[in-house]
Amino acid sequence: MSGWLCIAGLGPGDPNLVTPEVTLTLEAATDVVGYIPYVARIAPRAGLRLHPSDNRVELDRARAAIDMAAQGRRVVVVSSGDPGVFAMASAVFEALENRPEWQALDIRVLPGITAMLAAAASAGAPLGHDFCAINLSDNLKPAALIEARVRAAAGADFAMAFYNPRSASRPHTFGRVLDILRDTCGPDRLISFARAVSTPEEKLRTVTLAEATPEMADMRTVVIVGNSATRRVGRFVYTPRSAL
Ligand SMILES: C[S@@+](CC[C@H](N)C(=O)[O-])C[C@H]1O[C@@H](n2cnc3c(N)ncnc32)[C@H](O)[C@@H]1O
Repeated sequence: MSGWLCIAGLGPGDPNLVTPEVTLTLEAATDVVGYIPYVARIAPRAGLRLHPSDNRVELDRARAAIDMAAQGRRVVVVSSGDPGVFAMASAVFEALENRPEWQALDIRVLPGITAMLAAAASAGAPLGHDFCAINLSDNLKPAALIEARVRAAAGADFAMAFYNPRSASRPHTFGRVLDILRDTCGPDRLISFARAVSTPEEKLRTVTLAEATPEMADMRTVVIVGNSATRRVGRFVYTPRSAL
């Protein structure tokens, strides 16, 4: 049987938010490759090899997965959320760029529910108008570029979703981002902190920028900042469809 490679999104955490397409593909797989906590979400079974690896080896992991598929194995590379959002799908295509002999392989990307959309649904509809997503990690881009993009998005009145807002290795980036947002959007703009969305530890908190502190976010949090029209309705937050 010829091998294939799927890059699949496992959704934000709740097993009910894994798509049927991803579930069926995992059932047909011989190998699952990915970052340790994501591979831990896959139930072991006879005939399935699990290949967990560390966070910082994305390209090596992608090459190893492609190699296995080229040898005839049925390989699923797993990401949390959606595999195309700050995740493994780009790493696989980057690995393919330099290896034309691999480009004819049977490769598919299977979408998943990204953290931003699950968080927005928990909050109400804060992304109901134009929005953008920005990864606040400076592992793969300079901090100055992050700040420039936050300034530009806030200046254009986009709602914004921030992934990887704060980690132990860069405790100060998010504080600077909050300062930029307060300068550009003013103190009353709504900001939602959605932690561990769709898991039993889920916690959602909406405050104004004046009340927001860096400690409200960690690496399991996605942060959503509304646009100038975003408002509360009951316990929900929403952004109107119209900017007229
Ligand atoms: C490397 S990115 C991966 C994003 C993933 N591919 C997606 O589509 O959701 C990791 C970041 O996603 C966010 N994230 C992932 N799962 C989450 C969840 N269940 N609740 C809140 N944020 C989450 C956090 O901001 C975390 O730092």
